[in-house]
Amino acid sequence: MYILEGEGVTKYFGGLAAVDGVDFRVDQGEVVGLIGPNGAGKTTLFNLISATYSPKPGIIRFKDIDITHKKPYQICRMGIARTFQMVKIFGNLPVIENVRAGAFFGKSTSVSSANATKDSLELLEYMGLSQVANTPARDLTLANQKRLEVARALATKPELLLLDEMMAGLNQAEVAGAMQLITSIKDRGITIVMIEHVMKAIMNVCDRIIVLHHGKKIAEGTPQEIATSESVIEVYLGEDHHAGSE
Ligand SMILES: Nc1ncnc2c1ncn2[C@@H]1O[C@H](COP(=O)(O)OP(=O)(O)OP(=O)(O)O)[C@@H](O)[C@H]1O
Ligand SMILES: [Mg+2]
Repeated sequence: MYILEGEGVTKYFGGLAAVDGVDFRVDQGEVVGLIGPNGAGKTTLFNLISATYSPKPGIIRFKDIDITHKKPYQICRMGIARTFQMVKIFGNLPVIENVRAGAFFGKSTSVSSANATKDSLELLEYMGLSQVANTPARDLTLANQKRLEVARALATKPELLLLDEMMAGLNQAEVAGAMQLITSIKDRGITIVMIEHVMKAIMNVCDRIIVLHHGKKIAEGTPQEIATSESVIEVYLGEDHHAGSE
């Protein structure tokens, strides 16, 4: 059984096939990278998995259950959480309340306020955000806002975590921290699909990579296979982007 599986997943915006007949499979425990040029359809595929849109046509399954026509809150309750390319935190709320929101709307349907607080404090500690627990979320650095989104997602107790460009705009030290975090989340038994343009991170952290281009899957394989794939180099990686060189 795959934790996540898509068959012929397609999404049109007007005449544009943003995601075009994509088949994909994710095994439990994997870290899968989703890469491709700007506009390739990566975020749209996340929006399809997390039910912002429904594929048409196409089928998406989570642990063999057809989730194609579920609602976003149902997807979250089933155990899929996500972060956003453009962070969507509750800026006016303290950091801890952002995480508590995740605890209340996640997999457990009856969470006491005390337990939500306890879990959220633990997560803030885990993410290195304890010091800013009572700070309005909008006052955090971008790197910490992104970590806060991950904390909020983890508070829903997901089995599958979708990370959309967690490393964009971060400095080298912050990228290194994010890479460690992903490995640590994987060690907690959570399956990860990550969209990322930071090749060093993708190549080092992912077990497998899927490449989209103009909405179509053009390649799939280990980091080594992708780094040396001629078609991937041609449309995306280019001459200067070999594994680990960025
Ligand atoms: N809501 C929308 N309405 C119309 N077109 C859209 C919408 N969302 C995305 N698109 C278009 O669909 C295509 C895929 O966009 P998407 O955001 O999925 O790309 P992406 O691979 O995430 O790119 P990036 O790396 O820049 O984030 C683009 O041509 C984009 O302009
Ligand atoms: Mg995107």
